[in-house]
Amino acid sequence: MTISFSEQARTWHLTGPGFSYVVGLCGRGMPRQFYWGPPVPDAATAELTAENAEEYSFDDRIHHGVELLGELGPQFATPSLQLRHPDGAKGFDWHYRDHRIDDDHLAIAFTDRDLTLTLHYRVRDTGVLDRWAELEADAPVEVGRFDSAAWTLPHWATYRLSHLTGEWAAEWQLRRTEAPVGETLLGSRRGNTSHQANPWCAVDDGTATEDSGRVYSTMLAWSGSWRMQLRRSTQGRLTVTGGAGQEGLRLNLAAGERWETPVYSGLCTDGGFGAASRAWHEHLRRHVMPTAEEDPAILYNSWEAVAFDVSESRQLPLVDLAARIGCEQFVVDDAWFGARTSDAAGLGDWWPNPDRFPDGLGPLIEAVHGRGMKFGIWVEPEMVNPDSDLYRAHPDWVIHQTGRDRTELRNQLVLDYARPEVAEWAFRTLDHLLHENAIDFLKWDHNRPFTEVGDPASPDPDRVYFDHVRAVYDLKRRLRAAHPGVRIEGCAGGGARVDPGLLRHVDQVWTSDNTDAGDRIAIQHGFGQAYPARAMGAWVTDEPTGFNHRTTGLRFRFHVASAGALAVGGDLTRWSDAELDEAAEHIAVYKDIRPVVLHGAQHRLGDPENEPLTGVQYLLDDRLVALAFKTPARFNRPEPPLRPAAVAADSRWRDEDTGRTHWGANLNANGLPLRLTGSDWDSAIVRLRRVD
Ligand code: DGJ
Repeated sequence: MTISFSEQARTWHLTGPGFSYVVGLCGRGMPRQFYWGPPVPDAATAELTAENAEEYSFDDRIHHGVELLGELGPQFATPSLQLRHPDGAKGFDWHYRDHRIDDDHLAIAFTDRDLTLTLHYRVRDTGVLDRWAELEADAPVEVGRFDSAAWTLPHWATYRLSHLTGEWAAEWQLRRTEAPVGETLLGSRRGNTSHQANPWCAVDDGTATEDSGRVYSTMLAWSGSWRMQLRRSTQGRLTVTGGAGQEGLRLNLAAGERWETPVYSGLCTDGGFGAASRAWHEHLRRHVMPTAEEDPAILYNSWEAVAFDVSESRQLPLVDLAARIGCEQFVVDDAWFGARTSDAAGLGDWWPNPDRFPDGLGPLIEAVHGRGMKFGIWVEPEMVNPDSDLYRAHPDWVIHQTGRDRTELRNQLVLDYARPEVAEWAFRTLDHLLHENAIDFLKWDHNRPFTEVGDPASPDPDRVYFDHVRAVYDLKRRLRAAHPGVRIEGCAGGGARVDPGLLRHVDQVWTSDNTDAGDRIAIQHGFGQAYPARAMGAWVTDEPTGFNHRTTGLRFRFHVASAGALAVGGDLTRWSDAELDEAAEHIAVYKDIRPVVLHGAQHRLGDPENEPLTGVQYLLDDRLVALAFKTPARFNRPEPPLRPAAVAADSRWRDEDTGRTHWGANLNANGLPLRLTGSDWDSAIVRLRRVD
């Protein structure tokens, strides 16, 4: 990893594993991307120039490669940076000031009027380039939009966009579509990353496959409203600009204020969509997630079993059964606190409900710990039910606007963490809960988006969008520091808040409220495009789930959920002895494969949208684990074998279940030894160990 500067060419050359990125100055100092792609020799960068020149000022080329397009002169594309000065002047006229290189970090500073704008670049050993920007105002300025970075792709005949979309209980649906000439907006205006879109996207030239081809992908570390805007120009270039916020917001920076954007990372990989995903997985585990090296406990969560009917007496039988099948952590979900017996009341009142837990949480926690399990509990600290003691005492603590109704969703409102006293209340409340009780794990939920965003007491009410998110990060940071043994699961009505910003502060996430194993295959396929198995909570629950009417069987459900951080969420009191014994066997197998699944390299085998037999493979050192899933067959539809990935023809592998050995050449030709019956919803786990 190197960063070099050529004074003569006025370019910086950043190189990391698998890529070079060259940024240079044009005119008085406008920074433009000269190159982003596979590594180039330093000497060659002198020949690189931006596709730029004043003579192109009537056409789209004027926009190409600008690191943060503003609103100055003949710049007509949607800006990445929208500034308005008190005298009405707009934009930022780039004057290069200086730069700083500290190991893997480059900071280039520019000035205009009373502003200093610094572009930051950090080269990561995972092939990822982190970018963010910082504005220092010596005089007041209004900020309409301040993206973290813009990424320009090579000149291609076509551009294909891969992105993740969906809705509640159907998050993470992968879509591939040609990016039109014009502008395409991905994003969320909901105050969280959203079920509907996730701040990750990939672009290729339309020819990449799972295993081959160049893919450019980007990921934004922000857990509030966000946008990524693709600009495909009439001149045949594509730029993705992205950052925090949404259209229509205005921030008034005061003199002396500094504003830093979140990190927006870019990755250029060869080896298809699979290689891009593996690089993101490695990056997030190595540089973002706080405890990625740990094996998370297999948890039991009582939500699907009892919903709001939570009490000590209702939980204790589940504790016994969860321990019996081999779970390592018992998590009490919603409704243990305040007057929370349904979703209509109690949010905000974080003390045990005295009817349900007459002696507090102590006896339940002792029972859980006594059976060798850790204890976890559900919280939703950013929310309040109007029917709660907290709201009655502090009706002004919620995000709201004067003269507008406060829209309730799921009977709740959002607390305004942008107000320091509210964020401080949240810290004190959770800190107290953790001090008073031997809690090992928090499931941190966030069940509704923002509406009527504002703070009548603030002169700059749009800041709530940003300050709330920062306060959530800060709260988690403080709690982790005060309680270093506590682990946190991020949740937002399923997967509505998952991004590298949140992943820095949580140990895993709840992927989706949809636990139907058939639906999960596509959900997990989408999740894995960007995020690692280590982060992906996956439960085995009862069937039918209510999302679909099918039954797939316990084995299939366990195998699908074994593709991530396995958990159990069914009503174990209704499971037969045979089912409990079978569950114990599946959990024992998972404990064996867990290190490979959670820390290994993931290869997706097949496309679950179009193929009836698909799977996921994980490779770690000399171990290969494959999970194979068979969805409903269609008569006379050929079913090719499921071939392993990254297996050398001259390698030999021992099947740890049958003891048989197989040549890599044979596995590659004839597929994995699956031993499937051919019936719908059949599945298999294959465990191979390399013998030579
Ligand atoms: C939404 C979560 O996604 C569920 O798992 C559960 O915790 C409920 N909230 C509880 O209200």
